[in-house]
Amino acid sequence: MNASPVIVALDFPDQESAMALVNRLHPSLCRLKVGKELFTRLGPAFVEKLVTAGYDVFLDLKFHDIPNTVAAACDAAADLGVWMMNLHASGGRKMMETARARLAGKAHQPKLIAVTILTSLGEEDILEIGFHGTPAENVLRLAALAKSSGMDGVVCSPLEAAAIRAQADSDFLLVTPGVRPVAAAVDDQKRVMTPSDAIQAGSSYLVIGRPVTAASDPLQALKDINASLQAPAS
Ligand code: C5P
Repeated sequence: MNASPVIVALDFPDQESAMALVNRLHPSLCRLKVGKELFTRLGPAFVEKLVTAGYDVFLDLKFHDIPNTVAAACDAAADLGVWMMNLHASGGRKMMETARARLAGKAHQPKLIAVTILTSLGEEDILEIGFHGTPAENVLRLAALAKSSGMDGVVCSPLEAAAIRAQADSDFLLVTPGVRPVAAAVDDQKRVMTPSDAIQAGSSYLVIGRPVTAASDPLQALKDINASLQAPAS
């Protein structure tokens, strides 16, 4: 049983460097996220290898296509034994509901999470795409759409977590990247929160990459983050 909310982002270019990190961690201390780079290089066999090693795997492929195609991709991902997968809420209700219905028939049911507005997009970017309002307004609207379309939760910035949590039940999952332990470098993340602040803001799971993957002692860095979440709030 894994009590940690930490999902370590396996942002590596090849299997050797990814497994060098994985072999230093343990499935009882974290979950793992496999994204587009690693999946495109290494394919389903790598995901199955992590699942076989006992890890809960978040397959971060952000599906966005016609409903039938996304549902079929979700079905295939479920067959890999992943614990969580995601799609774009902007694919629409029909796409999300079709994916949900397809997974409902599976023996193994991964959590299905929606991306609202990519945090790389600013107000001008989303206006140019044709979305009106601020990114924050669009995030809340798409989070509500994701919930009413049967999604288990959304990926969001920890800075958006409290507002989404205020409009959703406690069982609606908020998966937040942009998390940095106090002492860690911010890297290219602009808006960050500490792990304990993110949990207090309503995050269910924390996606953390470089503070663990680039640490001189990744296991200790992970244990320190987990310990910071056990400490009573100040
Ligand atoms: O190294 P770092 O902790 O910044 O890694 C964060 C992970 O979360 C990366 O895999 C990144 O692609 C992902 N992510 C993010 N911000 C988003 C969505 C995903 O940092 N808005």
